[in-house]
Amino acid sequence: QTVYVNGDYLPKDEAKISVFDRAFLFADAVYEVTSVIGGKLVDFAGHMARLHRSLGELDIEPPVSDDEMLDIHRRLVAENAIEEGMIYLQVTRGTADRDFLFPEKDVRPNLVLFAQAKSLIDNPFVERGQKIVSMEDLRWRRCDIKTTQLLYASWAKSLAHADGADDAWLVRDGFITEGTSNNAYIVKEDGTIVTRQLSEDVLSGITRSAVLECARQLQMKVEERPFTVEEAKAAAEAFSTSASSFVNPVVEIDGSTIGNGAPGPVARRLREIYLEKSR
Ligand code: PDD
Repeated sequence: QTVYVNGDYLPKDEAKISVFDRAFLFADAVYEVTSVIGGKLVDFAGHMARLHRSLGELDIEPPVSDDEMLDIHRRLVAENAIEEGMIYLQVTRGTADRDFLFPEKDVRPNLVLFAQAKSLIDNPFVERGQKIVSMEDLRWRRCDIKTTQLLYASWAKSLAHADGADDAWLVRDGFITEGTSNNAYIVKEDGTIVTRQLSEDVLSGITRSAVLECARQLQMKVEERPFTVEEAKAAAEAFSTSASSFVNPVVEIDGSTIGNGAPGPVARRLREIYLEKSR
């Protein structure tokens, strides 16, 4: 496996970052995950736009240009022979003596990327659907910034697994925000798709925006508003979206079957169309 670190392409075991890197000490870093299908990057421009927004919010300088970033992505796809999988990208504020105060500007951001081969299209959840449990959303209140502060999301997913479920949907003030690493949707009996509107409570998913555009092109009705667990239990179907899962059907929440307990037609249709457009 070839890993990129600050300009070098290195074998996995030689790719190293300092213990004083602020991502290690403070989770002071942002990241992106771009999927690869048939050796091609999916929605690369969207991921770059969001990366710039995350960096801007935290006042971290982009370490390389977008053209260089594209070259690095392509080289990692090629060198690691990725037909299907993901490219992970992380920009940290840099390496500095441990101090809560952001370091002076002469500290340079660190840039790390690696590739993961993974079967994404052929996913058992597409036939089976995911079981979800709801959990309080205890993340910080700037979930619109894609930081590497993922401990609560990781913990929540692990608690969901221990509970026999596949993932957790997070609830703030009685309403679902999103999944641990995906945006959350329900489909009402009349076919209306409901997903929480963009705000600081959720990540603006690149897949979300592409899938909602597909839905609108298909004349499906979309409501961007918060919804509750009760509303999800009573929905005709449910699903989630992310770069690594595309459109993932959800068939159960907190032990209640959604619809007839099988992945629904809206999720299936949107997944097919999104994959078609991404190939
Ligand atoms: N996660 N919400 C959260 C909290 C996420 O972490 C993600 C992505 C999404 C979906 O965004 P997108 O469609 O741009 O992937 C929503 C990535 C896949 C991850 O952490 O691995």
